[in-house]
Amino acid sequence: MTSVLQLNISGRLIRRIFFLFIISMLILSVIILYTKNFHKSFSQSTVNFGISQIQYNVHKQVSYSQQLTGNKGNNSITKKLPLIYQPSSQSSLLRALLLFYPNDQESDFLPEFRWFYRSWTEMMINESILWRTDLIVYTSEYASIFKDLDCIYNQIRINSEEKPKCRVFPYIRIKSRTTTHEPSSKYQTIDKQRSQTTYQYLRAYEYIDSINTVFEYKASFSMYDFILRTDMDCFLTYNFAYYVPYNYSILVGRGGYSTEFNNKRLKRIARDMNWTYANKNGLGSTWYGPPSMIHHMANYTIQAMIHLVTNEFTTPERERKLGVMLWPEWHFGVLLLYGGHLAINHLITSENLKIAVGDQLLDQGVTSKDKNDISKNLRLHLHCWHGDDPFSKFQFKAGKYNEIDRSTLISDTSPSGYAMRLALESKAMTLQQLKQTLLDIKK
Ligand SMILES: *[C@@H]1O[C@H](CO)[C@@H](O)[C@H](O)[C@H]1NC(C)=O
Ligand SMILES: *[C@@H]1O[C@H](CO)[C@@H](O)[C@H](O)[C@H]1NC(C)=O
Ligand SMILES: *[C@@H]1O[C@H](CO)[C@@H](O)[C@H](O)[C@H]1NC(C)=O
Ligand SMILES: *[C@@H]1O[C@H](CO)[C@@H](O)[C@H](O)[C@H]1NC(C)=O
Ligand SMILES: *[C@@H]1O[C@H](CO)[C@@H](O)[C@H](O)[C@H]1NC(C)=O
Repeated sequence: MTSVLQLNISGRLIRRIFFLFIISMLILSVIILYTKNFHKSFSQSTVNFGISQIQYNVHKQVSYSQQLTGNKGNNSITKKLPLIYQPSSQSSLLRALLLFYPNDQESDFLPEFRWFYRSWTEMMINESILWRTDLIVYTSEYASIFKDLDCIYNQIRINSEEKPKCRVFPYIRIKSRTTTHEPSSKYQTIDKQRSQTTYQYLRAYEYIDSINTVFEYKASFSMYDFILRTDMDCFLTYNFAYYVPYNYSILVGRGGYSTEFNNKRLKRIARDMNWTYANKNGLGSTWYGPPSMIHHMANYTIQAMIHLVTNEFTTPERERKLGVMLWPEWHFGVLLLYGGHLAINHLITSENLKIAVGDQLLDQGVTSKDKNDISKNLRLHLHCWHGDDPFSKFQFKAGKYNEIDRSTLISDTSPSGYAMRLALESKAMTLQQLKQTLLDIKK
């Protein structure tokens, strides 16, 4: 009797010890995995986000593989999510490019608008005759440049046959809403309360309109299959003619604000806001996806920006007295990116919104001299990053590239050469000639 009992007790003891041993091993491996990940993301912080790479498969889809652990030995788990694909060129597909154009800063933005327009018409040379990609511009005035470029005013797309068009919609900037918060068009919806709050807290932030137009102008773009929300200092490539986000997800470009400090701070802020968090970093300002999802993201982005401006920046920061002193750490200038970061991380987890980081596809640099870069890596969209290496938007606007012979660039397919050629062409052309590049698109 006693010996059986003792046997039972020691059997239990052995099982308990064994159990504790297993648990400690588990904890130990979790710690090891975590440390590896931490070192990895730390060392890659500002340069290349996401520990991600692009892979191609036979169907010419591009997928995103995320390595969850280090790649030494075979302890890595690779999760592959498709990112983009080529829909049939035999059926119709509607897309729109959304831009905000600040009329009052023409000297800065007209050159950018011209080259963006040029890249739009260049891209369409390769696009299926059944597809339509419109250029939508929100701006406060139907200025003569838009008339000269054949942009129509306050008209939405009504069918899938209409030729590709540039469409201008009237918009009163947040900073100009001193008295009125009324819509400027039957396609604009203004939430008065939100408009007033935005005026109160964000009127001094110059990029607020580029996201607020998306929030207020849903009726101008809800008929498209996909929209691209982007900035003007960008270039579409030929690849954009063929690819859309896979399975109606949203593709988010690459953003350069994600330092270790900012990642932690933004995570802490999400907690303060009671928002969920998906640990996605380096999220850019260009979004490519279904209209209703992008509209939803714009709504949450503005909410986050209002929270940030009131809780996370000091008065000198809001008044820009710090300049770029703290960049790339906490910096008021990229408030829009921080807002998008919080919105995207929240919506991925709280609503299971399908958002993928296309950090090799959108917001790609314009300084690479690799002639195969665009085709090999399927870059869809290039964005001017700060710097003086060609192509530099600052050097371009300062006239530093005026002497370059454009004919030498025809065969230069590198991001740098492509951006340089389109920008110089758009500058050399009259508005009439630029418009002609649109009229030449046979659809
Ligand atoms: C890891 O696994 C893959 C296929 O499962 C194999 O091709 C590769 O050689 C392995 N690598 C190592 C370091 O064992
Ligand atoms: C775009 O069209 C041109 C002219 O038709 C062609 O040479 C080029 O290969 C096409 N680009 C791609 C990426 O298919
Ligand atoms: C595509 O989206 C549908 C609907 O959300 C989902 O059920 C399906 O699993 C997705 N497919 C892939 C391959 O992600
Ligand atoms: C988050 O939730 C807490 C507790 O429910 C609440 O006190 C706090 O006000 C909430 N914060 C925000 C920003 O809604
Ligand atoms: C914006 O989001 C809030 C919830 O956070 C919601 O109450 C509101 O209806 C949304 N606005 C629009 C126009 O969708």
